[in-house]
Amino acid sequence: MADLKQMTVVTSGKLRQTAYDLLDAETNLLAWKEGGRTPADIFDGWLAQADALYSIGNIKINDELLAKAPKLKVIAQASVGYDNIDIAACHARGIKVGNTPRVLSPAVADLAYGLIIDSARKIARGWQHVESGKWGERKGLGFGVDLAGKTLGIVGMGDIGSRVVKRALASDMRVIYHNRHRRTDDAALGASYVSFDELLKTADFILVTVPLTAETKGMFGKAQFDAMKQGVRFINIARGKIVDTDALYDALASKKVAYAALDVTDPEPLPGDHKLLTLDNITVTPHIATSTVETRDAMAKLAAENIIAGLKGEPLPAEVKG
Ligand code: DGY
Repeated sequence: MADLKQMTVVTSGKLRQTAYDLLDAETNLLAWKEGGRTPADIFDGWLAQADALYSIGNIKINDELLAKAPKLKVIAQASVGYDNIDIAACHARGIKVGNTPRVLSPAVADLAYGLIIDSARKIARGWQHVESGKWGERKGLGFGVDLAGKTLGIVGMGDIGSRVVKRALASDMRVIYHNRHRRTDDAALGASYVSFDELLKTADFILVTVPLTAETKGMFGKAQFDAMKQGVRFINIARGKIVDTDALYDALASKKVAYAALDVTDPEPLPGDHKLLTLDNITVTPHIATSTVETRDAMAKLAAENIIAGLKGEPLPAEVKG
């Protein structure tokens, strides 16, 4: 049985207490502290000793980094997305990779639903209007649209997407979806499978929940925005690079897309002087879909459990296989 106290865990960012306590009790934890050393300092000094790496998704994990960590056995990232990690390079070195699916799905689905509602009702714009002393000037704000009776098209119907369906049905929306593979439970979920082209043509609201991969990068460009309904609303809670930002900007500027609500952008962070922010038909939140106390604690716990299992040579509770 491996003595975990002899095993070194390095972190790429500030750990939540949940993960700190679990890892500190069982392993030799070298944890980054706010106001202390930067992740870059840590990597130069600590990676050589690392048996495990706890990543918060803020670094690129590629051949260059892995070459500095010859003892690495497991990487756990506190996120469901792992597009910053070269999985093939990790697997080629026998390094297991864990992520945190499912525990974050309700929180992400809530934010997606919130952005769907915001794209219809301009809640954030309404607040800006009031904050700038324009309560009485309805003209500048304009009307929103109802969700009831509208079609929501979900691109990528995984655990998060299926939770959004329940929320959308509560608003009397009709839900269609497109996935690489049709789900066998879609009738029970209350969503109808359609081709990607059909979804683009018929949805009043389009929600993007696919992971960022070589296939989905730039999946929404000029041709896709052109194919959408006039006045469609576009919501992205997945990854910014799935969307061609210039094409989205043009579609918003011409009002082909009536409103976009984005939790993710390309680039990210979005600079304060970015042209997207000059538009009056967009809401952007700073990648906060998982940012609740309970969800971040659950993600931290699962990531720590992935590390402990990996160091013990056991299957990870949530392992990235592909
Ligand atoms: C995820 O878990 O992938 C969220 O987008 C946070 O990065």
